[in-house]
Amino acid sequence: MYQARCISCHNANPKIAGSVGPEIFGASLEVLKVKIQEGAYPLGYTPKRNTHAMPKQSLSDEEIKYLFQYLNAKP
Ligand code: HEC
Repeated sequence: MYQARCISCHNANPKIAGSVGPEIFGASLEVLKVKIQEGAYPLGYTPKRNTHAMPKQSLSDEEIKYLFQYLNAKP
């Protein structure tokens, strides 16, 4: 799912910045959820970038949970 939906902007290796988006390895479940579903950030979170280039995507909570596990997997 990460390869299909995210690497047009983020790097195929989430530890490295992509062509458009920053590195996102280790992103918290809350940041992923709010950023993907609402195009926003959790209250009090300092974003890595101040741009608003990333479009929202209608992923389910379950799909985001899988992305979270993928982006937080130990090598
Ligand atoms: C069209 C390009 C694009 C796509 C597709 C995209 N992103 Fe992003 N993403 C960005 C950009 C650019 C930023 C920097 C903030 C902004 O401009 O919105 C970002 C920021 C983020 C952040 C916040 C990083 C931080 O801590 O500040 C997360 C998390 C994230 N993306 C996850 C994802 C995931 C997961 C996907 C796939 C479901 C995805 N993005 C798809 C462009 C994209």
